[in-house]
Amino acid sequence: MSVNLNTANNPQLEKQTQKGERPIEGALRPETLSEFIGQKPLCENLSVFIKAARARGGAMDHVLFFGPPGLGKTTLAQIVAKELGVGFRATSGPVIARSGDLAAILTNLQPNDVLFIDEIHRLNPAVEEILYPAMEDHKLDLIIGEGPAARSVQIDLPPFTLVGATTRSGLLTNPLRDRFGIPMRLEFYAAEELAFIVERSARLLNMPLTRRGAVEIARRSRGTPRIAGRLTRRVRDFFDASELKEANASLVDQALSRLDVDGAGLDTMDRRYMRCIAENYGGGPVGVETLAAALSEQRDMIEDVIEPYLMQQGLVQRTPRGRMVSAKGFQYLGISAPEKASEQLDLLSEQNDKA
Ligand SMILES: Nc1ncnc2c1ncn2[C@@H]1O[C@H](COP(=O)(O)OP(=O)(O)OP(=O)(O)O)[C@@H](O)[C@H]1O
Ligand SMILES: [Mg+2]
Repeated sequence: MSVNLNTANNPQLEKQTQKGERPIEGALRPETLSEFIGQKPLCENLSVFIKAARARGGAMDHVLFFGPPGLGKTTLAQIVAKELGVGFRATSGPVIARSGDLAAILTNLQPNDVLFIDEIHRLNPAVEEILYPAMEDHKLDLIIGEGPAARSVQIDLPPFTLVGATTRSGLLTNPLRDRFGIPMRLEFYAAEELAFIVERSARLLNMPLTRRGAVEIARRSRGTPRIAGRLTRRVRDFFDASELKEANASLVDQALSRLDVDGAGLDTMDRRYMRCIAENYGGGPVGVETLAAALSEQRDMIEDVIEPYLMQQGLVQRTPRGRMVSAKGFQYLGISAPEKASEQLDLLSEQNDKA
């Protein structure tokens, strides 16, 4: 794929343009805390912990970033290493199949390095066991050999900072979660913050974008920088194919409508999900497994990608008996809520509050 880009005043982008879209996403990634927009309280605390670790000359305590996809967990992990001025090693839960793999990674770390484990909730339990003493005492307990000849050896590790990322902190085992001294939850971004991110991306992509255009993209990005970045790149395609001098709100609206992203930022999948509950199950409650089967989607996809934003917006509710479309959700769909459903919802939310 060739990318038509004016890269004259951005050498970093220039280096990477030949390789297609992924590298562009990389080039848009903020590299320092000061470039990182939003997540203010989290960043302020992080900056204190980084300063303190630097002043002490030791490894920073282990950090867990959790929250919905695309909010900047991986980005922050890289920033932590960079701001600490230490090496960065990245791997992910499902990739570390055997305890030996983790042992190899740990013994190759330099003192104070950051080890980033993405999708840490998907670590194999045997591997997790190895991680506990490594995190706590910088020790590696290994069993060498098999059967009666097996013996255990203990290896000293260099001090290191484990940075874990997960979209599902609820799936982490308690012992693992407890070993992170710095658990940090990422929140959806305010439209204002996203507008800054969009403007920065547009600048890096050399697309002249009006303020109102940026605000429109931001408003429709589901509070998520990754989506803001993707929509900005799509708007740029429409802009490049147009005769316009700058991308304005009406071009943005045209482009996003063509992509089926509606005024509230919801896409086809969100609407299918809500319609399924509203129309097939009378507004709910309906279990997530049933929904997954009805929509032919993975349960994980529904819980990680679709639901967090719809719930944050109050369009859908999670009750002990399953998912329900809220009154606001029915209003959004333009369907009148069945009597039964709204009464039940009130009852269930009461129960929920009490529980
Ligand atoms: N605060 C921010 N400012 C600017 N861009 C950001 C910010 N946060 C994230 N991004 C951009 O959004 C994209 C997604 O970020 P990132 O990969 O860090 O998300 P993630 O939380 O690790 O997602 P996942 O859970 O899917 O791994 C990246 O391209 C990154 O550049
Ligand atoms: Mg990530």
